[in-house]
Amino acid sequence: MTEPTIFELSSSGRKGFEFPKSDVPKAELPKNLLRENLPIPELSEMDVIRHFTKISQLNYGVDIGFYPLGSCTMKYNPKINEETCRLPGFLYLHPLQPIATVQGALGLMYELQEWLAEISGMSAVSLQPAAGAHGELTGGLIIHAYHQARNDKKRTKMLIPDSAHGTNPASSAMSGMHIVQIPSDHRGNVDLNVLKAEADDTLAGLMLTNPNTLGLFDEHLKEIIEIVHNAGGLVYGDGANLNALLGISRPGDFGTDILHFNLHKTFSTPHGGGGPGSGPVGVAKHLVDFLPNPIVTKIEEGTNDNPPLYGFLKPAKTIGRVKSFHGHFGVIVRAFTYIMMNGDEGLREISEHAVLNANYIQARIRDSYTVPYDRICMHEFVAEGRWQDAPEVHALDVAKRLMDYGFHPPTNYFPLIVHEALMIEPTETENKETLDAFSDALIKIAKEAHENPEILKSAPHSTPVGRLDEVRAARDMILTCTFPEVSE
Ligand SMILES: Cc1ncc(COP(=O)(O)O)c(C=O)c1O
Repeated sequence: MTEPTIFELSSSGRKGFEFPKSDVPKAELPKNLLRENLPIPELSEMDVIRHFTKISQLNYGVDIGFYPLGSCTMKYNPKINEETCRLPGFLYLHPLQPIATVQGALGLMYELQEWLAEISGMSAVSLQPAAGAHGELTGGLIIHAYHQARNDKKRTKMLIPDSAHGTNPASSAMSGMHIVQIPSDHRGNVDLNVLKAEADDTLAGLMLTNPNTLGLFDEHLKEIIEIVHNAGGLVYGDGANLNALLGISRPGDFGTDILHFNLHKTFSTPHGGGGPGSGPVGVAKHLVDFLPNPIVTKIEEGTNDNPPLYGFLKPAKTIGRVKSFHGHFGVIVRAFTYIMMNGDEGLREISEHAVLNANYIQARIRDSYTVPYDRICMHEFVAEGRWQDAPEVHALDVAKRLMDYGFHPPTNYFPLIVHEALMIEPTETENKETLDAFSDALIKIAKEAHENPEILKSAPHSTPVGRLDEVRAARDMILTCTFPEVSE
């Protein structure tokens, strides 16, 4: 960090505050609370504002520039979402308030459940799970409970394609499943022969991301779902990539039994750095009774004179609570606002533009980078950050060099089935100028990889800190400013 710390900026006697004149008699403070030597930094108000504003500008975010982090859907988050979730009536709610005093919030949650069901083709939705991975865990528990309830107890096998997000096997294992990996075929689809061979009477389910993390819509989706259902298993849809499908295709219509939504991705809540998120889970008719408890419900329709009455219901065979209270309410309000602002046609346009933008970049860089599964992509695609005639250059070097051109790097080294993967997801919110500037930068970098590889290997050159030891940076974080040593 090149910025001085706030202690280094301190100058004796400078101050940025003025206490009002005391209007009470002076009193002695207890001696044990007083310290002779307390090194609080001394700065003017302006020094403080400039210091923290400068520090805030060292960070990169979607409000600063293009953020094509594949699989993360780092779209622009409209500021009106922040306004609505901070309305005092929402902000100051307490989950233990009497139901009669939170009818507006329950109404909003109920409507969002209904909208998500409509968007996805599922029958009912729980808003409880805290993030995508938590939705997957909830789904695994529902699948387990469903088979148990039918006394089909040997079904513990969960099939997971090798292109899946790492959370899929992790959360499935946490729900008690035994994981079997299914390879992808040469077109990036689930390998049907392996799937058929694994679809036996121990099959609990398949966890399928569609479009998958290669950004490809599986060309055999219907057949895959039939194979799993015919073997007595359930299909869990990882809906984290729903940004490609809104208003175009509904996982429920294909026979998906359970689906999670990443509200913080598709429905625009700022995310990254660990939260907050929200991963509601939708289920088909035959699984409604297993949903987490409680579910927001409409107890009475409204009339001209009276608003509707909302409350909670307990699903008959519920797996129980998966989250304290009712989920991450702030994210729920943001998603509600976003869906309401866009409407049905707007949602469809979101996905159309997300898909168009990804295909545009793919087409622009295709001659400079290998795209191993080279077909029309959905909202993202995966290229290789390597060249046979520039063997010393790796995807990481391309990612770091992109920072010098002012862009956040794409996801790299994921999915694992692509060597030196660069996973690019532009989202619908970027304009053509940005897509062109990014594509131009990638093309220039490909040229540099051949002509001047060292400039890639030593990148980034323009950031406050250079190339980090990423493992140490994550493990040994220094997040607090500590007081300098004081000699008593
Ligand atoms: C395809 C896919 N599945 C699951 C997840 C997990 O979601 P979360 O990070 O909200 O737990 C992600 C995260 O981006 C994802 O991209």
